[in-house]
Amino acid sequence: MKESKAVISTWGDFLHSKGDLEAIEIHRLDGMCWMPFLTAPPGALKTRMEVFPEGQLCIATEEGELCAIVTTNRIDWNGETGSLGTWHDVAGNEQTCRETYRSDGNTLCLLSLSVAPASRGRNLAKTLLRGVSLLAERLNLEFVIVPARPNMYSKSVIDAHRSGAPIPEFDQYALSRRADGSPLDPWLRTLTTCLGMEITQIVDNAMVVEIEEYQFMSSKQSDWALLHSPDGPAWWVNETGFIYQERDGRLVYREKNVWCVLRRSPVNRTNDLPYRSSTTEGRRL
Ligand SMILES: CC(C)(COP(=O)(O)OP(=O)(O)OC[C@H]1O[C@@H](n2cnc3c(N)ncnc32)[C@H](O)[C@@H]1OP(=O)(O)O)[C@@H](O)C(=O)NCCC(=O)NCCS
Repeated sequence: MKESKAVISTWGDFLHSKGDLEAIEIHRLDGMCWMPFLTAPPGALKTRMEVFPEGQLCIATEEGELCAIVTTNRIDWNGETGSLGTWHDVAGNEQTCRETYRSDGNTLCLLSLSVAPASRGRNLAKTLLRGVSLLAERLNLEFVIVPARPNMYSKSVIDAHRSGAPIPEFDQYALSRRADGSPLDPWLRTLTTCLGMEITQIVDNAMVVEIEEYQFMSSKQSDWALLHSPDGPAWWVNETGFIYQERDGRLVYREKNVWCVLRRSPVNRTNDLPYRSSTTEGRRL
């Protein structure tokens, strides 16, 4: 990103300023940050914006270059960590939030945060997380939750594989702490230090995506590696999860997540909110 001022706004306000009614730029940035089999299906992000406009935030330069996006859903949750399910339970099977959004829900769930590769390491993720926290405050919600991907787990796996060391277990990695007591994984550390979240529980099969052979072949990169993981042979694909070959030959991407939870103290909850996407002014960083 060039050294120019950046502004946080809703996707709606950003796209309106660009005349991009189909949210093409949002999908483009999503596509830059995730493997093709993990990107949102065509139109899903636009629908999320229609369903919950205030919950979709982005950062762009003053010149209109999109640098980072975060997407959230508003749902109802009973506060019991044992009831937390998978990523698709929150986003819905179509990944649009249409089936799962509750306009009077008590919880904000962060679905994904993506920073363009050229803009990383400049605190944009932290800035968007603060935007999410502010949104929860404005909506006067009880909980902010994240099915977090400990995104350096994958690196610890490939490093172990290349050095001939045993492949680290996900659960052990995700719960590991540094000497100062903070999580070992940088993304989990960011969620706990920046938002004050608590790491609660690990969910198996949080993200499961079936991959057609042609998709596997066309996505395949030279650094992908076939490993003997604790769950059997698996392709390391530089994501949090792995691609497994099932007994029937199907290729399936499986990822574990760690639910992180922030319990807030809402004051006299009301649906009459002062925050509207169309009237929200971009906030200068
Ligand atoms: C992970 C990601 C969002 C970080 O964005 P960023 O703007 O570079 O992050 P920031 O500059 O705000 O730094 C936030 C923290 O993230 C950590 N971080 C930065 N780059 C990272 C990376 N590539 N992998 C893991 N953690 C990273 C750092 O520890 C940093 O905290 P610190 O400065 O206290 O050490 C970005 O690399 C990304 O979009 N990755 C692909 C999508 C993804 O994995 N999203 C997160 C899960 S939804």
